[in-house]
Amino acid sequence: MSASFGNAVLRPLLSADRIASRVAELGREISAVYRDQEVSLVPILSGALVFSADLVRHLPLDMVIHMCALHSYQGTQPGQVNWRLPLPDTLSGQHVLVVDDILDTGQTLGRVCDAIRRQRPASLRTCVLLSRGEIAPGGLAADFLGFRIDRGFVVGYGLDFNGRYRNLDSIAILDPQPEPPA
Ligand code: IMP
Ligand code: MG
Repeated sequence: MSASFGNAVLRPLLSADRIASRVAELGREISAVYRDQEVSLVPILSGALVFSADLVRHLPLDMVIHMCALHSYQGTQPGQVNWRLPLPDTLSGQHVLVVDDILDTGQTLGRVCDAIRRQRPASLRTCVLLSRGEIAPGGLAADFLGFRIDRGFVVGYGLDFNGRYRNLDSIAILDPQPEPPA
């Protein structure tokens, strides 16, 4: 079933229940790796807002939550990556886990990881809810991944189209519809 939102049609991809059970599993996978280490979690806003809010409640770890924000997409097209909220400068010697909503070209995650590496953390890992397509040889792959998805621009559960749809509890493929003739 698809739902209409203004000029867009949303085709369901991942239900709220499917997401919730995978996030709980990810929590177990991640907790098993860090065990008694203190974690510095760095969600990349705004896309990772909803995912990380759910994920942290499945991570019974000693944890500090930092935040950073980058902006890249204009509508459904990737553009230049710009910092909106810089990283904290206190990550030296920390076990850092970066969290993002979706890995596509890897530009965003790569940029954040490069900046964190310059601070010399004790360890650096990445967790993304979604990864689109195959990772090219030598490309950036996440250490923890929720779902691999095919082509198609997705919204919901934090993912947006021009700032909208982040509040949907499930994930859908957005099919923009042509504007009706004036
Ligand atoms: P990358 O830099 O090409 O890997 O793209 C990752 C960033 O672009 C993510 O942090 C998202 O904010 C955004 N993005 C990529 N694909 C989508 C999508 O299908 N829906 C919403 N945001 C997306
Ligand atoms: Mg993002």
